Amino acid sequence: MKSQVRVAILGATGAVGTELLELLDSRNFPLAELKLLASSRSAGRTLPFRGEQLPVTAVGEDSFKNIDIVLASAGGSTSKAWAAKAVESGAVVIDNSSAFRMNPEVPLVVPEVNPEAATTHQGIIANPNCTTILMAMAVWPLHQVQPVKRIIASTYQSASGAGFQAMEELKIQAQAILNGETPPTKSFPYPLAFNLFPHNTAINDLGYCEEEMKMVNETRKIFNAPEISISATCVRVPVLRAHSEAINLEFSQPFPVAKAREIIANAPGVKLVEDWQANYFPMPIDATGKDEVLVGRIRQDISHQSGLELWLCGDQIRKGAALNAVQIAELLVGI
Ligand code: A2P
Repeated sequence: MKSQVRVAILGATGAVGTELLELLDSRNFPLAELKLLASSRSAGRTLPFRGEQLPVTAVGEDSFKNIDIVLASAGGSTSKAWAAKAVESGAVVIDNSSAFRMNPEVPLVVPEVNPEAATTHQGIIANPNCTTILMAMAVWPLHQVQPVKRIIASTYQSASGAGFQAMEELKIQAQAILNGETPPTKSFPYPLAFNLFPHNTAINDLGYCEEEMKMVNETRKIFNAPEISISATCVRVPVLRAHSEAINLEFSQPFPVAKAREIIANAPGVKLVEDWQANYFPMPIDATGKDEVLVGRIRQDISHQSGLELWLCGDQIRKGAALNAVQIAELLVGI
């Protein structure tokens, strides 16, 4: 791909879209042009970028003409509606939705894990689910040294996973409860402030919700390891931004904790955060706005001699979405 790139952000006004703008700027992405697309609700708005106010236009038939890369983060139905059109126009779509992730012709890429998969694209590259990316970042370096057999994940997911509106809703709910009022619910089925509930995606016949199945299926695809057994319980918690995950890993033989700690400390995109004396480990407020996935509390599983326990926090909007997408774009451009 050429060195100065024409980029469109589909969903530019959203939580991930806004972060994409920030990352393209702060990472000095080589832009020849930047086009901001959203729904007709946002047409006429402007967003600041590199000292200018860029117009937001409603996505339409002509939106992808002369565009090299589309960073799409406007939900699955919008991606399904526009991705083919963008590819027809000659663009590569890096899609943050779940619309194409499990399509065998679409690579599912975490640049620290399977960058080579990006080269096999046929116009669309999928950005994995946020909880999956964060888990993959911590588990992959260990899996490289000793293949993991089984993963049990429990997640503590922030409001940001459901977008800007959901983050606002959490603040409004908290205020309403403090005022003794009934909290309004729109983005979520139940009040999230001072509460938590299992992830509100559709549940399958086995009792697993979509978010949990994304962690199962997407991790296997990214690792190219269909044999790994994975089970997840995904829970929404009243945190604004940055997800947390408790991960239990089972290997074929014991994995020395000191070795795991050393591997995590040296893994790309991951930061070891542990102060056992102070009982200080990764927290969502520390992960917010950070590129790295914070990993700590690595310990031997006392219930299984070949098991490890770890705890992680990662910014769901950043490495869980926008940063991973920009890193894929950088792979395409060769930087
Ligand atoms: P808009 O702001 O015009 O609604 P979030 O994940 O924070 O909720 O953001 C979703 C993003 O996706 C926003 O930029 C939103 O634009 C955009 N979006 C939602 N629906 C559509 C649609 N039908 N066509 C284009 N963009 C859409």
